[in-house]
This record gives sequence, C-alpha cells and structure tokens, in this order.
Amino acid sequence: MTASIIDGKAFAQQLRARVAEHVARLKRQGITPGLAVVLVGEDPASQVYVRNKGRQTVEAGMASFEHRLDAATSQDELLSLIARLNADPAVHGILVQLPLPRGLNAEAVINAIDPAKDVDGFHILNVGRLATGQRAMVPCTPLGCLMLLRDRLGDLSGAEAVVVGRSNIVGKPMAQLLLRENCTVTIAHSRTRDLPQTCRRADILVAAVGRPEMIRGDWIKPGATVIDVGINRVPAPDKGPDKTRLVGDVHFAEAVEAAGAITPVPGGVGPMTIACLLANTLTACCRAHG
Ligand code: GUN
Repeated sequence: MTASIIDGKAFAQQLRARVAEHVARLKRQGITPGLAVVLVGEDPASQVYVRNKGRQTVEAGMASFEHRLDAATSQDELLSLIARLNADPAVHGILVQLPLPRGLNAEAVINAIDPAKDVDGFHILNVGRLATGQRAMVPCTPLGCLMLLRDRLGDLSGAEAVVVGRSNIVGKPMAQLLLRENCTVTIAHSRTRDLPQTCRRADILVAAVGRPEMIRGDWIKPGATVIDVGINRVPAPDKGPDKTRLVGDVHFAEAVEAAGAITPVPGGVGPMTIACLLANTLTACCRAHG
C-alpha cells in the first residue's frame, strides 16, 4: 500500500484565504487586525521566518508591525517594548521570535506578553488553560497538525496517538490537543526504552524530534496517519557539492509504503504554522472587539 499525501501547502492556502475574507469583513467595520513580530539579533533562519510572517500577514490584509532589535538589546529594553505592544490597541497579536540571543530570559519575556495577545500560545496562562480544557491561545504548529488530522480522519476519538518529542513548542501542546480530542496519548522521547515498538502502536504518529529521517518505515503501523513536524537540512551530494535538501524526522520513502496518509517535507506541516498564526491573530482581534 502507498500512503496518500497530505497536502499541507494547499490546506494552508485555503486557511489563509478564509482568514483574509474574515479580515476584509472586519476592515469594512473599521477594524484592522494587527500582528507585531519581535526579532532580536541576526539568526539567519529566524530572519527568513520573520520575513515570511510579515509578507503573509500583509497578504491576509492585516497590519504587520516588525520590531528588529540589536543582539545586544537588554532584558529591560525588550520588556519595555513588550509593555508598549501590550498597551497598543492596534496590536492584537505579539510574537517574539525564538530563540533569543544568549543573556535574554525567554521565559520572562514570553510571560510579560498580555495572554490575550499571545498568538504563539507560549504564555504560562495559555499553557495552563490548554491543559485544563479552558479557552486558550493554542501554539500554531500543533494547531496546524490537528487541523490536518481532523480533515483527514474526522473524529479522532479512541485513536492511539504517539507524539515523538516533548518540546514546549510542539510535543507537549500536541499531546494536550490530542487528549482533548479523546485520543489515547503517549509522549515518547529520547529516553523512551523501545521507541520503534512504541511508534508501532500508533494510529496517529506525530514526529517532532528534530532528528533527520529517524523514524523508519518498519516503525509505522500499516495504515497509520503520520504527521512529520521535522524540518532538517542535510547534505545532498547527489545534487552537487555543498548542496542540501530538506528532510523530515520520518524516513519518507520507507514510511510512504506503510502509512495510510503522510505529510511530506517540505509542503506538509511547515506552511500550516504561519497560516495558524494568522488565524490566531484574527481570533485575538475578534475577542478584543467582543
Ligand atoms: N521559533 C521557531 N518556531 C517558533 C514559533 O513557533 N514561534 C516563535 N515565537 N519562535 C519560533
């Protein structure tokens, strides 16, 4: 059996179009959703993400506020920018790009964001709300994974879900979301004793470990739905010297033969993250305006 490919790029495009329609309606009422993105330092990958976020925010009809700060910015300077953005009624969503340069305390910065504007869903209050089933801002990448799963499978109740990876950004919130959907959830990680056997239990397998092609085809239960969150750049000597290619955490060529459905890399989960960020900003704006 060959898996069907879950087209995250197309799904994200449709989601962005729906967000843009809603934004257009709000603008006719004189309301423009606004997203502020804060980038500290010169991390090249972060610069690419922030540029893409800004472009897609504007394409959706929203206001984009970019704050690029020097790597030498102090904690107090950053906190005072957050305070200004919290107080600015034109800003409905605030995102501080991670990682922050050494010397800055990311936890304190994130927890200084108004939880109602925390479109990343990283504030401790939103983490707690998600864990206790209250209305929360939900982190964008796991939210995007859940949308793809629900679109593919419909009701997830009773499914065996295995999340590989326990990060605060993906693994833990993903597990909370799957639990909320009535899945039986296992979080596996680097210390899991028999990772292949644990993965073989999964009707739904979410890979978010950041290890290129770690999850092999024979770890996958036949017919399972596989969501690959990994984006790893690896050498591609077949394409020429110094050439690279993107691969996920799942060995795609093997997994596609076992799974029922699978997200590719690129073009799977990746495009969903920014689309969900825009959706969260729209949600924050709607809540702010009652
Ligand atoms: N860095 C990598 N992923 C993310 C994300 O989802 N949000 C933020 N703020 N920083 C990131």
